[in-house]
This record gives sequence, structure tokens and C-alpha cells, in this order.
Amino acid sequence: MITYKDGVFHLSTKDTSYVMGVFEGKLLNLYWGEKLNFVPELSKMLPIDYFRTFSSTDVIDSDGEKFSTNDFTMEYPDYGRGDYRISAFEGKDFEGTTASNLKFDSYEIVDGKYSIPKMPAIYSEEKDNVKTLKIYLRDEYSNLKVTLLYGVFEDLNVITRAATFKNEGSEAYTIEKAFSLSVDFNCKELDFIHLSGAWARERVPHRRRVVAGTQQVESIYGISSHIHNPFFALVSPDATETMGDAYGFNLVYSGNFIAGAQKDCFDVTRAYLGIHPTGFSWVLAPGEEFYTPEAVTVYSANGIGEMSRKFHKIYRTRLCRGKYRDIKRPILINNWEATYFDFNEEKILKITEAAAELGVELMVLDDGWFGKRDKENCSLGDWIPDTRKLPNGIKGLAEKVNGYGLKFGLWFEPEMISPDSDLYRAHPDWCLHQCDRERTLGRSQYILDLCREEICDFVKGALDNILSTGLVSYVKWDMNRYMSEVGSPAFSKEHQGEIAHRYLIGLYGIMEYITKKYPDVLFEGCSGGGGRFDPGILHYMPQIWTSDDTDALERIDIQYGTSICYPYSAMGAHVSAVPNHQVYRTTPMKLRGDVAICGQLGYELDLAKLTDADKEEVKKQIAAYHKLSDVFHNGDLYRLITPDNSDVAANQFISEDESTVAVCIYIKRARPNNSFKFVKLLNLDKNALYVDEKGNEFSGDYLMHFGFKISANKDYDSKIIVLNKK
Ligand code: DGJ
Repeated sequence: MITYKDGVFHLSTKDTSYVMGVFEGKLLNLYWGEKLNFVPELSKMLPIDYFRTFSSTDVIDSDGEKFSTNDFTMEYPDYGRGDYRISAFEGKDFEGTTASNLKFDSYEIVDGKYSIPKMPAIYSEEKDNVKTLKIYLRDEYSNLKVTLLYGVFEDLNVITRAATFKNEGSEAYTIEKAFSLSVDFNCKELDFIHLSGAWARERVPHRRRVVAGTQQVESIYGISSHIHNPFFALVSPDATETMGDAYGFNLVYSGNFIAGAQKDCFDVTRAYLGIHPTGFSWVLAPGEEFYTPEAVTVYSANGIGEMSRKFHKIYRTRLCRGKYRDIKRPILINNWEATYFDFNEEKILKITEAAAELGVELMVLDDGWFGKRDKENCSLGDWIPDTRKLPNGIKGLAEKVNGYGLKFGLWFEPEMISPDSDLYRAHPDWCLHQCDRERTLGRSQYILDLCREEICDFVKGALDNILSTGLVSYVKWDMNRYMSEVGSPAFSKEHQGEIAHRYLIGLYGIMEYITKKYPDVLFEGCSGGGGRFDPGILHYMPQIWTSDDTDALERIDIQYGTSICYPYSAMGAHVSAVPNHQVYRTTPMKLRGDVAICGQLGYELDLAKLTDADKEEVKKQIAAYHKLSDVFHNGDLYRLITPDNSDVAANQFISEDESTVAVCIYIKRARPNNSFKFVKLLNLDKNALYVDEKGNEFSGDYLMHFGFKISANKDYDSKIIVLNKK
């Protein structure tokens, strides 16, 4: 699985190989792709005449030497000595010198998966077939020791990566850039796919050819953001859902990131991913070590669909943790779009009563239950129930909700502080800020300085106060603004470049504490909808509110884009009222249910106001969800017809044991006198028979080659076809 022979490292999983070589002391990146049964010695993998026609533009080691790093595919490119492409790290020693020369020192192979202190990461369990490779590099110019970490998941076909930087000198060293990975692709035509959008239209897949120069996505919002996701893929230009090369990259991080591909003058494409260097620096005192966040990489020889399934599987099983990783999660009703801030105990109980009759299992009270929060402009930080709305407090309400047979859940925005709050009046310096610069507001609020331990302790205490009552079974953890004036008075000026990252370490520390202390509580991440839909959050919270756009049609697109990297089990998905509150569209209850049912199903409307017909439809949805959630959440996803540029969308899920197949078909827009559409299934057993709910039998090969013929002549029509293998 990991071998090292004659200067060549070969990391292999069930289907893939990743090869590096040590040449002239430098670590080269040699191959990544389909599994190689045999990897030759290094000299055979180098260009036969490895020094190109020597050009006057090359910078070389020394006179007479013919090796320039600029001409080679490098594994972790250093800066300032002749590789003019994007470097993986940059730093400065105490004298201000910046050039570095990372040389291979030694390596170690250990069982199991490395971990990253205080940071989220993929993990392995005892029975897993996982090994770690540590490659130690030394900077010839300073006393910096760089360790490259590789977690090789044989069965899951995934390689994780991270790097650490240790100052082994006696003076400070400042890191100014520290990527989690760099990969050089030799002379390949590639397309760059990324997930970009905005609030309420997150994670739209974009695809473009990699051309000379750089193409990148990034966040300097302080959170991973609605705008770009810390995911990208490089795929062969012919790649589709079912064929072609697809390389996927995703950063296990919820803050500023940069992700890109740079094509050089020799058609080598360098992929890179890590913390965004803008505003970042980290001072390493002698003996200190810095860890980058983890990057997850996946290779598929069979297209984008297989790449997604590899991400989905490892995220479901070895990124998410806790009891809810493996068990069915409750169907919830959330009052936000039903009441916004305008609620009281009576209103909530009316919705709860209606929810109970329909079979909903959890009532979630959203924003507005604390302080004096009748609008979004106050009270964050004052986590004391508002007795004007809830005369019996959270306790009284939770007990009454439980009386209807529902569990009780609560919204928090723990990272925030409103200027109009008792907390801010008592601690005006507790927010992120830069000296006496103006503190700019976002949604009328500031962000708590989670770099400081006493502030993290306050947040833990505020959550403890409520969760220790045992009455809260679910927490929606919201975060509603981007960062500005990122600074902390608790650190000296040399350390201000660390604040954005230290914030994340503080946040992850709180999440680790709370989720470990309350293992029975289900946590759902949220950030103004899907502003922090990333693997960092998924490590602590197995589901995330996908978007504030709850319109069924919009959700077909948003959930599709999200599924390129993240599993449906991670997507909070609610049926909401019509006309929809974000786009004012009216869609049938059936479509709204058929779209939400694939994610973690919830309702976000006043159920007491539903018509009888809609109530019957909701009951059907809930019954279907009980039957199929395991297929949607633990099965494999095949995107049969993607909704981009199509009036029809179709997904297929195959249960883990392959006995059940669910096909979801959506008509986004009907056309008059339409041509028929064929929904052809994928990866069935061609010799088996599959029986639908009406008892019709189809052979696997028929379903894959003929499929279902649909006329798509009614707007917003939808169908879920369930097939059981005979
Ligand atoms: C943003 C979330 O995405 C919404 O679902 C809701 O919880 C509001 N915040 C409440 O302020």
C-alpha cells in the first residue's frame, strides 16, 4: 500500500496509484491515476533526456548542474530559488530571508491515520486498511523541518494530505503561506470544476478549460463562504458523470482558503489547495510546530459520478462522527419561515400539535427565543430565554413539546455578539477588531474573538446552561456574517496574521467540547444557509442547512451542486410554504417533498395551516422517508440527468446492500409537444429482476439500456420510483 524503493514512493489504494521520487535531494511528483501494478526505478520515470534544451531562462543549482525545479513536477514546491510557479509554502527567517530549499531527509510509514491537533480531519477505525506516510524534508537555508503527511485509505480509495512546519532553530521563523497540498499534472488537458454561487444559490457547478495562467477560487470571508466552496476538481475534457478522469480536492477547513490550478509554459498544471495566504502569517518560536488543515483527494477513472461517490462514502463514514453518523435522524419541523421572530409559546405549540398528527419527530425553535430579540439587530450573546414570548422558559416549552411526543431542538448563533446586548455592554472588547479602527457590522452583529480562551469558555458555558438540562435534543448552530477587521487585542502585532486561523482553532475546540459532552444531541451546522458547508463542520455536525433558499426548483440545483462533493445525508432539506419566501414560486406539495426527502427531511412552514390534501401528502412523504432514508443516506448516488441546462433532472440511489433502488425524477419545466426523455439507470445487476411498487418486473439490463420513458409535459411534476431486487 505504501512502498519506498530506490528513491520511489508508491502509494496505492484499491484502484489508484500516487508516485513520488527523490531526485537530487528534491521530492518530485511523478504520477497520480489508475493503479499501477509495477512502478519502475526513478531513472526510468524521468524524461530520457531530462535536461530540456537548456534555456537561458532556467535557474539551476550550481554551475554545470542541469537540474532546474522549474522544469520538473514537484511534490511540495518551495519558493525563491528557480521554480517560478505557485509555491506550496513561503516563509521568512529572523533575518528576513525568504528563499527556501526543501530537501528530502527521511520517511516513516505507520499504521492507521495521522491526526491533526485541534483540527478536524478524516479518521480511521481499528479494522480499517489505512496507513500513514510521513516524509520529512529540511530547508537547507533555515532550521525548518517540513513533514508531508499522507493518509492512504486502501478500501475507500482516498488519499488525505497535510503538512507540518517545525522550527528547529533558535530564532523565530514566520510562515507566510502553507498549503495543504500541491500536485503537478504532466502535460494533461484538464477542465477545472468548482462550486460557486452566493447566498441562497450556493454551490453551482462551473466548468472551464485550464489554460495558461492561473484559475482559482478562494475565500477571504473568514468562513468557507457561500461564494466559493473549498472544493475543486480537475477532469479530463471528455469527462462526464460516467467516464473520464476526475481528480477531486477538498479542504477540511471552514475558513479562508485558496484552491486553484496553474498551467505553465510546458503544459504542466499545478493544483494547489490550502489556507489563503492573504492576511495569513504564523510565527513559529523555536521548537513550535504548525499544522496545515487536511486536504482530501480522490481519483476516479470513471467520471465525476464515481469521484462524488468516493467523497460521499468517506465523509459519511470517516469524517462525520458520533451516534448520528450511523442512525436515522429525526424528521423535524422548524418554525423560522412559519413565524420568523413573531412567535410565542402558543403559536409554537399549535405548530407542534399539527406536526405531531402528521408524524414529525422533532420541533426546532429557531432564532428569537432569547434576550429581547424581536429583530435581528440585538441580543446575540444574551442566551437567556425571553419570557415575554416563552413565559415558561425553554424548560416549559420543551416539556410541552415532549408532551406531544416530539423531541425539542433549539437555534443558537454562539459565535456572535450584538452591539445591543448585555454581553457587549459588559465586554465591549470581546469581538474581533483591530485597535481603534471602526468595527463594521454584518447583519447588525460582531463576531466573538474565539482566539481567546476566556471567550471560548463563555460560549461553552452559555451552551452548557441550556444543554445540561437534557431537554434539548437538537442544536442548529448558525453563523450569519462574514469577518471584517480580523484582529485580537490579546495578541501582539507580530501575531495578528494568525487571528483568522486561531479563530477556527477556537471554534473547533468549542465544537469538540460540546459535541463530545452531549453525544445524544443532534447538531446541524448552518451559516446564513449554506455559507459554511464544508468538511470542517461535517466533522462535528453530521448535517448542515444546505441553503436559505427552500424553493423546490432552486433546491434541485443547489442539492445537485452540493452532491458533487458532499453526500445527501449531510444536507438539511425542508419542505416550505408556497408561494415560496425566496422566489415567490408556487410548486406542488408533492414536488417539495420529493426534493427534500433525499436529504435530512424537515418541514419549515405552519403545518397547522395546511389543507387536508396537503396534510395527506405530508403523511405520504413521511411514510416514504421512513422506508427510503437509508437508501438516500447510506446508499450510492448516481446522477442520471443533471439539472444544469436540462428541464428534467433525475437521481438514482442504490442501497448499500444493493437490494433497493430509488429513482427520483423531476420536471423543472414542461414544453409543449415535448420529445420523450429516457431515464436510463446505472450500475444495476444486468441479470437480476427488479420489481417496482406496483409489482411490475424489469430486468437490470432493460432498466440500464431502455430505462423509463417520460413525457415531461407537466411543470413541476415529480416521481420517486422504488425498485426492489428480486
Ligand atoms: C439564517 C439561517 O440560515 C436561517 O435558517 C435562520 O435560522 C436564520 N438565520 C435565523 O436568523
